[in-house]
Amino acid sequence: MRNVKWLENAVFYNIYPQSFYDSNNDGIGDLNGITQKLDYIKDMGFDAIWLNPFYESPFRDAGYDVTDFYKVAERYGTNDDFKNLCDEAHKKGVRVCIDLVAGHTSLECEWFEKSCSSEKNEYTNRYIWTDRAGKDYNHSCIGGYAPRNGMYMKNYYYCQPALNYGFANIDDPSWQLPPEHPDCQATKQELINIMEYWLSLGADGFRVDMAPSVIKNDPDSSGVIKFWNEIRDMYDKKYPEAVLISEWSHPSVAIKAGFHIDFLIHMNLPSYTMLFRAEKRENVVQPFVGNSFFNKNGNGSIENFLADYLREYDRTKEKGYISIPTSNHDIPRISYNRTPRELEAVYAFILTIPGVPFVYYGDEIGMKYFADMPSKEGGFTRTGSRTPMQWTSGKNAGFSDCDKEKLYLPVEEDGVNVEDQLKDENSLLNVTKKLIKLRKSSNALSNEGDIEFLNRKYNGYPLIYKRTGTDGEYLVCINPTDKKQDFAYNLKGAEVVMQNDNAVITDDEIVLKPISYVILKLN
Ligand code: NOJ
Ligand code: CA
Repeated sequence: MRNVKWLENAVFYNIYPQSFYDSNNDGIGDLNGITQKLDYIKDMGFDAIWLNPFYESPFRDAGYDVTDFYKVAERYGTNDDFKNLCDEAHKKGVRVCIDLVAGHTSLECEWFEKSCSSEKNEYTNRYIWTDRAGKDYNHSCIGGYAPRNGMYMKNYYYCQPALNYGFANIDDPSWQLPPEHPDCQATKQELINIMEYWLSLGADGFRVDMAPSVIKNDPDSSGVIKFWNEIRDMYDKKYPEAVLISEWSHPSVAIKAGFHIDFLIHMNLPSYTMLFRAEKRENVVQPFVGNSFFNKNGNGSIENFLADYLREYDRTKEKGYISIPTSNHDIPRISYNRTPRELEAVYAFILTIPGVPFVYYGDEIGMKYFADMPSKEGGFTRTGSRTPMQWTSGKNAGFSDCDKEKLYLPVEEDGVNVEDQLKDENSLLNVTKKLIKLRKSSNALSNEGDIEFLNRKYNGYPLIYKRTGTDGEYLVCINPTDKKQDFAYNLKGAEVVMQNDNAVITDDEIVLKPISYVILKLN
């Protein structure tokens, strides 16, 4: 298996740095704040963190618009603070993975400013420019911005010009370059230099933003697969313990491209949305609508998930991992329209399926999604998932000691918080922690164990699957609906290892209470 040992039972925690913990009371979370919370992270059972971008930026897209890839933005601290975070995390056995915005920079990046010049220079081809202003190639090209007679291609917002790594298929040779072109190779070399720089300070890997976007006009993905495999080869030779995580949402392609982990999220395939987020929401752009499987109305179907999942799982098994995160900074928090009890059923699923789980900061306590929050730094509807972590019931929920007006985003003071939940054995936090501990105690329940879905009738309610590994077999039974559900199975000798209500278990049947789960060790 072409893989990294520590991923076999790793669980990740995703931290949005501006909202985690403010160590110097300027109202914005920072790297030293994360260092100060490492004991909490370790105690929850997380083995690694993924940090959203902390690079220097004008923050028109919350830091996904980078001006200097070699520098921590002042508001988060210094490069030394990053090194210190890695050193302290490593002492506790926690790895630190960071965001790599590979496909674009900020408009204000010095490379782009030079690229805008009408005089030819080293950066002329660092970005994708058409051959003259006003000739529209497609809607991704923006004209009239620069003295240069051409339109630049954007990768996401207008302020994120696409870096030029080349076109797999060339329609117009007057301005499109192949990936082998020395200028495209120079862009790629710069990316490698950036990666090596942060690896040398202690980073343990990268979550690659918009990973497939680096090569243009590449319908069969062969160009992008080649691109990332070359980087993976470099990793395997020089950094065999470091990991590559993709924002791609097409695991079979991403893992073929050399990634260790791919997120199965709201893009490309409908599976993730059909599990948790299919219901139409005001003002939230959703590519797929219908009924989620994890909805108490029981109108969804597990088949909408399994159709993609099983195919992708079969193609990637033993080669890499699929990750189904609880939420992230781009989507409404999983708690939206769900009670803590419903969340327990969701987490019982996310934390007992194969692949590498990612918990988004605050989801372990069921922090809210604030649907009406005014947009901050290009967040728009995403802003409501990015509010400060709620640590205590005190001032600013313990996130910062600053005056309210200085807070990066408003914080919910009278909502859920870590301090209260740590004291309550049955809190969502403690359930999450126990699920993580259980997962890590068993090969069958770990990232590696096999999975077999046993109930494909009645749209998959209740959800029943078997995990198998070197330490035997477990049966996971989840009823996301508000009605009792039963399932006939030989349960002789089965032992309950975790549950949230009193399921009725006989030798040949299990009856699950509304919105409940049971994890059984089979004999
Ligand atoms: C995906 C990131 O997760 C998102 O927050 C960002 O806006 C875009 N990529 C552009 O970088
Ligand atoms: Ca701060």
